Amino acid sequence: MRHLLTTQDLSRDEATGLLDEAERFEQALTGREVRKLPTLRGRTVMTVFYENSTRTRVSFEVAGKWMSADVINVSASSSSAGKGESLRDTVKTLHAAGADALIVRHPASGAAHQIAAWTADDDGAGPAIINAGDGTHEHPTQALLDALTLRQRLGSLDGRRIGIVGDVLHSRVARSNAHLLATLGAEVVLIAPQTLLPVGVDQWPVTVSHHLDAELPTLDAVMMLRVQAERMNGGFFPSSREYSVRYGLNDRRLALLDDDAVVLHPGPMLRGMEIGYSVADSPRATVLEQVRNGVHVRMAVLFRLLVGTGSPGTQ
Ligand code: CP
Repeated sequence: MRHLLTTQDLSRDEATGLLDEAERFEQALTGREVRKLPTLRGRTVMTVFYENSTRTRVSFEVAGKWMSADVINVSASSSSAGKGESLRDTVKTLHAAGADALIVRHPASGAAHQIAAWTADDDGAGPAIINAGDGTHEHPTQALLDALTLRQRLGSLDGRRIGIVGDVLHSRVARSNAHLLATLGAEVVLIAPQTLLPVGVDQWPVTVSHHLDAELPTLDAVMMLRVQAERMNGGFFPSSREYSVRYGLNDRRLALLDDDAVVLHPGPMLRGMEIGYSVADSPRATVLEQVRNGVHVRMAVLFRLLVGTGSPGTQ
């Protein structure tokens, strides 16, 4: 693996290997007073975020620091991007300054792919690029941490029926998960109003439904998506009230799920919109497990990209 740009590049073996590696990192750190491994000593990792983030940016920083990397955070608002410097010049500057990995979030779909091309040296070397969310396109480490959470809660994903609910149109989380969960053997159903499904969804490895109440009893897990108002130019159809009534996961709907079924949300949550206040805090909700798994998954990804395979990764 040279970069992590999309879950569509991951084979089943590669994805399973990353989840196994994440669990090895978790085990290696469990019970330690000092959570510090020497794995990435001397390596420089830079987060480059052109959109807001809490979970992704912080967990990559924690992951890098727990592996002894030098971690540098660059945000668009505090960098020379604010003076008009182009994305190309910014990432080439960070490469020249010594980045071994660039972890990039950008509002443009395809930005991570473009950055990988811009920063490749003539001999094919250059920093590893990790897509931390590019527009409405992909968020591969989110899907990996979701898959790890599902595997821990449900066992194997083979044959499991996973519902992804809500604003699929604007969700990079949905696309990355649809492909990864299918690669890992799950049956994925997108549950959304027609207006919040992307053109070309018929090419995804999923089925589609518009009826949340009918689907809930059939699911092993339900992944609620945030309504991404910031990508909607001021309004969307159905209205927010109608959306919440038809697609919000409230207490009544939670009771339609099988007893062992779990509820995921990538965060940040809009409580009262796509997920009820008490549902978000229920024992079936895995929201904070997802965050914890995110650190270990990001350790595994950094390890795989910067060190390679064949090593235990926890020395
Ligand atoms: N799930 C996720 O990407 O959250 P942040 O936007 O807080 O990073």
